[in-house]
Amino acid sequence: MNKNIIQLHDKKFEPFISYEQIDRAIQYIADRLNKEMKGKNPLFVPVLNGAFMFAGDLFKKLDFPCEISFVKFSSYVGTTSTEDVKQLLGFETDVKGRTVVIVEDIIDTGLTIHKIIDQLKQKEAREVKIATLLFKPDAFKGNYKVDYIGMKIPNDFIVGYGLDYNQYGRNYKDIYKIVE
Ligand code: IMP
Ligand code: MG
Repeated sequence: MNKNIIQLHDKKFEPFISYEQIDRAIQYIADRLNKEMKGKNPLFVPVLNGAFMFAGDLFKKLDFPCEISFVKFSSYVGTTSTEDVKQLLGFETDVKGRTVVIVEDIIDTGLTIHKIIDQLKQKEAREVKIATLLFKPDAFKGNYKVDYIGMKIPNDFIVGYGLDYNQYGRNYKDIYKIVE
């Protein structure tokens, strides 16, 4: 068996995106944020659990004053979206009149972000931008623009770098793809 394959619960995963590629994608997003968000006093809102690693690496690359406040939403069970997005930890910061940047590990169906955008509109945020490390265009059902995309990927189930399969796999530095 290939020694680079990892097993989580009942499934096997093979190397897919290296940390070097991830780092380049994050630098690309950070360069744009450093240009476009400077002076806007943005509030960055990473979505737990998945985005914790991306958020940690991204924010170290930002060179202007900004605020960071996590929210927590959950929709996935196993390897598919339940399409029922649960809010587990809401907004603790007043967003009225603010520029808010949602920070996600991956946008799949887009339903999680849709729900967060709705809430931010209700709370009268001035503008809402979206930054995601990964984007699955073939699964996306949203009708909004995703402003900052690190990498587009096919519609395969992946783990690592914050992403999980039933809560396992988040700790790996690289990203792995399911072996069918
Ligand atoms: P969406 O609401 O369908 O866009 O899914 C959003 C959330 O589902 C992401 O923030 C991830 O936490 C999780 N997710 C989506 N695709 C994957 C995947 O391939 N592996 C692990 N988690 C995923
Ligand atoms: Mg997530």
